[in-house]
Amino acid sequence: MKITVFNGSPKREKSDTMHVTRAFLQGMAEQAEQDVEIINVIDSHIEYCTGCFTCMHNGGTCIYDDDMRGLLEKVLASDVLIFSFPLYCYGMPAPLKAFFDRILPLSSMAMQKVGDRYEHVGQADFSRLRYVMICGCGFPNSRHNFEGMVAQFNLMFPGENTVITVPESPMFNAPEAAVVTVPRLELVKKAGKDYSEKGSIDEELLREICSPMIPEEQYAAIVNAGV
Ligand SMILES: Cc1cc2nc3c(=O)[nH]c(=O)nc-3n(C[C@H](O)[C@H](O)[C@H](O)COP(=O)(O)O)c2cc1C
Repeated sequence: MKITVFNGSPKREKSDTMHVTRAFLQGMAEQAEQDVEIINVIDSHIEYCTGCFTCMHNGGTCIYDDDMRGLLEKVLASDVLIFSFPLYCYGMPAPLKAFFDRILPLSSMAMQKVGDRYEHVGQADFSRLRYVMICGCGFPNSRHNFEGMVAQFNLMFPGENTVITVPESPMFNAPEAAVVTVPRLELVKKAGKDYSEKGSIDEELLREICSPMIPEEQYAAIVNAGV
């Protein structure tokens, strides 16, 4: 399976969230051999979409000849896209948002009704793609934190998608937290294995992965003690 990981953390491989993503990939690789490419979005030259809609009328060529052309080719050559990124202001980091805006060339201006909403008709065939979002965050709470980002992801990719949200994620970069992070990453590995095998993750396992590793109050007290 061809898996392309878009790492949206400006911290590149030092990303807290990438600990989770690497464990997920390890689990997938345990189940079956995978062809994985990791792209640090921050290192790509991606101009902001100007909203000219040229690409939606001309068969899919953007006015900008930047790294996005190659990235769209990688998207279309993939079976699974994994978006790994930290929650920023209840959404995604700006470089990743610039990337998402620039996937517009894959759609034409024509609209069609799908279920109870309208979508643009594709100008490329991406029907076989599956999408995974892995999002870390700095607060211990998931409620009143991840909802906006999860809703956006579900609207962008309403079909085959999987969402993993991980609170307290700075702990993955703290060696002294290994007593809780190592077992959590083992669960993530299992989720990766399940995903590779079935294309989905058991709901109970997902709930466990998305829950705080230590009680919220304890986490906040540790953070505050270091401020
Ligand atoms: C600009 C900015 C905005 C942030 N916004 C949120 C937020 O809305 N909610 C939250 O829980 N954490 C927020 N955080 C904390 C990050 O999500 C957290 O540090 C995360 O572990 C970083 O992950 P990374 O190492 O993968 O980049 C924010 C951090 C920054 C720098």
